[in-house]
Amino acid sequence: MQGPYRAVKVTDDVWWVGAIDWNIRDFHGYRTQRGSTYNAYLIMADKITLVDTVKAPFREEMMARIADVVDPGRIAYIVSDHSEADHTGSLPEVIAAVRPEKVFASAVGAKTLPELYAVGAEITAVKDGQTLSLGNRSLTFMETRMLHWPDSMFAYLNEEELLFSQDAFGMHLASSARFDDQIDPAILEYEGATYFANIILPYSPLVLKLLEKVRAAGLSVKLIAPDHGPIWRKDIGGVVGRYARWASQKPTAKGVVVYATMWHSTEKMARAIGEGFAAGGLTVKVMPLDAVHRSEVVYELLGAGAVAVGSSTLNNNMLPSLADCLTYLRGLKPQNLVGAAFGSYGWSGEAVRHIEEILVAMKVEIAAEGIRAKNVPAAEVLARCTALGQQMAQKVGERLAPC
Ligand code: FEO
Repeated sequence: MQGPYRAVKVTDDVWWVGAIDWNIRDFHGYRTQRGSTYNAYLIMADKITLVDTVKAPFREEMMARIADVVDPGRIAYIVSDHSEADHTGSLPEVIAAVRPEKVFASAVGAKTLPELYAVGAEITAVKDGQTLSLGNRSLTFMETRMLHWPDSMFAYLNEEELLFSQDAFGMHLASSARFDDQIDPAILEYEGATYFANIILPYSPLVLKLLEKVRAAGLSVKLIAPDHGPIWRKDIGGVVGRYARWASQKPTAKGVVVYATMWHSTEKMARAIGEGFAAGGLTVKVMPLDAVHRSEVVYELLGAGAVAVGSSTLNNNMLPSLADCLTYLRGLKPQNLVGAAFGSYGWSGEAVRHIEEILVAMKVEIAAEGIRAKNVPAAEVLARCTALGQQMAQKVGERLAPC
């Protein structure tokens, strides 16, 4: 009896045969509040080709979707565009079941896969720009190193003008809808930006170079098929334009206040700085870390102009929730921010200095010396916080002013 899993037609010759993960909520520190998909694609060419596989626990779902189109034993080629386990966890078992003629990956991927698994097949390395004949169809490969792993590459199906883009242009979004035009554009924008901020952000300069390379090559793209989330068939210009905008990290008139508070004194300072941002003309997001997740903070910082970071002092340091968030942010390397530190303390008050050190290491421009409040901030301290917010807003305004 046929099971519940069906393939979804993408073009006459290409089928989505991936898996939907309705449950996942954490992706190495990134909160995936809407779950995810692991997309795999079947090209029904003379040489039937599987592009990417799925996370190990979803192998049977993928195999069932493949079997909905063709006997999996007829797959001739497997292409691995990206070695991370959400796309290769099932690869060794798929290879064992299918016994393909060949498995292809980038040069780095061909080295990486055997370091991750007993793959059970020789991996054939393909070069940047190389075209692989599938008989009546062909794939051209494009290395996309560090987007977001050293092994990453795109595969372009020439006859369909379809770009298999692995993680790029993807998003974590579990849905029964497979195409961009079937999903609320506001959700696409939000989840796409959250994905970019939490995964791609540190590699922004490489994104800009890659977009330029694709433009220079004059590549016509009718469909973008990423490894997570919907397939782009309607708003390709929109998603490519958003990537260019996000990767440029141009600041906007927006200020973010992120803080951890013990007995609400640091919170009072945070709110006062937020009022200063607003008075200075910024749109404001005040983010208490006992209520928001680090993933939301980095989403809000995408394109922000200012960030004020605060913590109470606990045992000569910042509160653990802020240390967690700053470690995460530092790795993601947000650019072009004006910053400042603040926080309350009882007797030692080192947190503000520690925050400033991290902001400097992140290359945030420190707008002014941090503000410390002993115990509960007095009205005069709160007035200084508001003035700090205004001063930071002014600096953002100067950066935004035309030269
Ligand atoms: Fe979706 Fe980098 O793996």
